[in-house]
Amino acid sequence: MKRIVLFENIHPSAREVFEAAGFTDIVTHKSALTGEALVAAMEGASAVGIRSRTQFDQAVLSAASSVKVVGCFCIGTNQVDLNFAAETGVPVFNAPFSNTRSVAELVLGEAILLLRRIPEKNARVHQGFWDKSAEGAYEIRGKTLGIVGYGNIGSQVGTLAEALGMRVLFHDVESKLPLSNAKSCPSLKRLLEQSDVVTLHVPGGATTEDIMNSTTLAQMKPGAVLINASRGSVVDIDALHESLSSGHLAGAALDVFPSEPKGVNEPLASPLIGMTNVLLTPHIGGSTQESQENIGREVAEKLVLFLRSGATKGAVNFPEVPYLQPSGETRILHVHKNVPGTMAALSNIIAESGLNIVGQQLQTRGQFGYAITDVDGEVSGVLLDKLRNHPGTVRCDRV
Ligand code: NAI
Repeated sequence: MKRIVLFENIHPSAREVFEAAGFTDIVTHKSALTGEALVAAMEGASAVGIRSRTQFDQAVLSAASSVKVVGCFCIGTNQVDLNFAAETGVPVFNAPFSNTRSVAELVLGEAILLLRRIPEKNARVHQGFWDKSAEGAYEIRGKTLGIVGYGNIGSQVGTLAEALGMRVLFHDVESKLPLSNAKSCPSLKRLLEQSDVVTLHVPGGATTEDIMNSTTLAQMKPGAVLINASRGSVVDIDALHESLSSGHLAGAALDVFPSEPKGVNEPLASPLIGMTNVLLTPHIGGSTQESQENIGREVAEKLVLFLRSGATKGAVNFPEVPYLQPSGETRILHVHKNVPGTMAALSNIIAESGLNIVGQQLQTRGQFGYAITDVDGEVSGVLLDKLRNHPGTVRCDRV
């Protein structure tokens, strides 16, 4: 029976998926482990599940020799040495889309709060004032929402915003099919000039660094508000501080920051601290009970599919082979160096053992190839050893 080891208090929805699939040897740990304790806890495990705190570097991956697949029960995969995992034939899965709804809901909630000036009004009541003025407070109905980055989250924000009566514009570097009545803007400038609320949903990295800077912030409508729940590097915080201080922007909501505290007791360092027209949240856009449950289910399903069939669709570091119903008696999973002749050698070794290949899928990615081969008989230990000993082989298993 294949053992599954889960760290960091992964949501029980994962265990439900494993058990429903017939896996009963499931070991769970509440916290993240390190060093020898981590390696010892993974002994005999075929699959391991981690969240963001467990570090899978080369030393850990090399020591955990039984592990065939890693599931990151989160969005990010920086905690795993992905290249090394691929070099040792270990696919890594994550849950990139499980929390899109959570982020979208937060953004819409913040849009409503900012246009109603709730952050300031809330602070005033706490300070002992009872200022009932409607000045500067607006409904979001009929206002224009500008979405920068119309991907998974951005497009969902747009759909929800339209249901509340907003007019939706978006700008994306790729051509995107608009959902409902959303309109694509050919340039960021055109979007900024027209939007009452601007929300950012682009990836991080060099191409989006500081796309909201003193020039682009000045292009926003006077009295507009900015929401960033994407990546901290996307907004020049000093320029935003200036734009809010001068009164050009009426407010902002930030969930992500250029430099974020490492732990719960570390304060955020930002010039925006103390501004009553700014909502600051600790990178919790995607953190809800529902998203944790979805993540548990989504990653567990990918691990189950891999353990049963070798399917790697959605793996972040590996050639992606989609699920196909096995067409033979046994399935051979062969990870190899992507060099000429390896597939021919694989087929010859199988043929020499007297087995017929009845189905085969191959995908390559960079230096590696991954072939799933269905054969019409049992795969012996001798054949498996021959395949494993071929110089082009990275890893070979049967399911
Ligand atoms: P996605 O990859 O589905 O969409 C990103 C979109 O941005 C794509 O359509 C892409 O073409 C577009 N894009 C890239 N560069 C652009 C540019 N310079 N200008 C305009 N559009 C550009 O990503 P997804 O899943 O929607 O995530 C969006 C962001 O949200 C990511 O940065 C992600 O890390 C972040 N995120 C934040 C969370 C939080 O807790 N605050 C939770 C989940 C995701």
